[in-house]
Amino acid sequence: VGRRAVLPAGLEKLLTAQILHTYETRLFPSAESIEVKRAFIEKFATILVTEFPEWEVDIHVFGSSVNGLGTSRSDVDICLTTEHRELEDIFVLNKALRKYHMRTYCIPRARVPIVKIWDPELRIASDINVNNTIALHNTRMLQTFVAIDGRVRPFVMAVKHWTKCREINDAAFGGTLSSYAWVNLAIHFLQTRSPPILPVLHPPAPSLDADASRAAGEVDLSFNDDIARLREYGRANTESLGFLLYAFFRTYAYEFDYRHQVVSLRNGCYLAKAQKGWDTGRPARIFCIEEPFSTWLNLGHSANTVSVEGIRREFQRAFSILRDGGSYDNVCEVY
Ligand code: GTP
Ligand code: MG
Repeated sequence: VGRRAVLPAGLEKLLTAQILHTYETRLFPSAESIEVKRAFIEKFATILVTEFPEWEVDIHVFGSSVNGLGTSRSDVDICLTTEHRELEDIFVLNKALRKYHMRTYCIPRARVPIVKIWDPELRIASDINVNNTIALHNTRMLQTFVAIDGRVRPFVMAVKHWTKCREINDAAFGGTLSSYAWVNLAIHFLQTRSPPILPVLHPPAPSLDADASRAAGEVDLSFNDDIARLREYGRANTESLGFLLYAFFRTYAYEFDYRHQVVSLRNGCYLAKAQKGWDTGRPARIFCIEEPFSTWLNLGHSANTVSVEGIRREFQRAFSILRDGGSYDNVCEVY
């Protein structure tokens, strides 16, 4: 059968073992890399107090170095909070960093302006924003999902690894999808298993009256983070990592309706593009992944029709390889 729903038992076990092997040997961050990140943050903190001795600036680390989904090679995402709004002009920070032989690159006109840093001494990359705290909340949300079920971390990291190997994880320069978009997709997939592995954490509503909250400049940041209770949630589902990855590829290769559906982690289901008013004024084939807090944002906006087609072909390729008995390594063969 071309798109059969189950893998032969032998293959499923093998695939699960391969994913866990890659996770343990190549994806799980090394103690050394954690130490380098710590050293970088310390160095960065010292630069801030030296350069801006009069200003109170707090450092918040977010993204994959703290959400449980980062590798040794992940960058360090940092949000600075300060009442000194002069610092929101990221060129101010940029100028200071350059004195310390940091290689920097500013992206001032993005929705979230950032300074990208490469530290040649510690050999580490970092993205810094100032006073843009929204990502601190979605980081906490991802931490919560990761803590609920032991399969979440290896599964999502296996998906991220595949997207990086296949060069479909670069929203800014590659015109594909960001890590955050991929993580949303992978977690949503675990919410929509039957029985589900992950719960819906958000209160019902906003999704559909997004325009009002957007206009009011207000975002509802609340979600259920009662991890102790939520741990019971996915127990009834016993699907293996291997099977989950296989089913994930099949879903987005052949089952998901790119033309009409929206992936909504906030609601734990698919919404209709028409329901969100996303069916007009944008190409029909664009990938729609609703940002769980700022529900008027589409995390898939970075990928145009051509790259969505490319992403879909990658799903089909990955699915075919596994169906034909190939390994996780084959799926992740680099371009
Ligand atoms: P890697 O760095 O690839 O390991 O993953 P990452 O999750 O750290 O991704 P990235 O460095 O691209 O982004 C860092 C964090 O910023 C994410 O984990 C999110 O918390 C947040 N983020 C990224 N993109 C968006 C976005 O489009 N919208 C919002 N609200 N937050 C985002
Ligand atoms: Mg990151």
